[in-house]
Amino acid sequence: MVKVRVNGVDHEVDASPDTPLLWVVRDHLGLTGSKFGCGMGLCGACTMHLGGRPVRTCVLPVAAVADQEVTTIEAMGDHPLKDAWIAEQVPQCGYCQSGQLMQAAGLLADNPRPTDEDIGVSMTNLCRCGTYDRIRKAIRRAAATLPEPVPPESAVPREDEALDEEAVKEEEAQP
Ligand code: FES
Ligand code: FES
Repeated sequence: MVKVRVNGVDHEVDASPDTPLLWVVRDHLGLTGSKFGCGMGLCGACTMHLGGRPVRTCVLPVAAVADQEVTTIEAMGDHPLKDAWIAEQVPQCGYCQSGQLMQAAGLLADNPRPTDEDIGVSMTNLCRCGTYDRIRKAIRRAAATLPEPVPPESAVPREDEALDEEAVKEEEAQP
């Protein structure tokens, strides 16, 4: 028996510890939104979140995630990506799309204002139908609905630092 916590629920499943998490989630728990594609960690069809980060679960032994929270597409909730995916009519056959959404959700959690380059770097999931352009547009559309990111405290000058900068500028302006 192995333990796994998926979508906020603890489970004990009769599986070998080296069984890939994808198999446990699909075959033992019956959550079939995550797909099997390559089985080699390459295509991203099996992407879930582990501790909030996207991971490829076809090559991840279930024993390796025992103490961590696994989230699948079934628990994605009312994420703005869903509306954006519909508005941009992203899916074609749909097979890769749950993995694409989970990957995109991870990107926006880290970077709510991604550039096209950021999206290109992060969205390495494959789509045999070639929906990449619509995926990029949908991510940009969803990002536009998210609150402005708050700059890190260290990037905001303190009041006394701002005054110091003014003094330096005035000094430099002296003949
Ligand atoms: S099925 Fe997991 S990366 Fe392709
Ligand atoms: S929509 Fe068909 S593989 Fe991506």
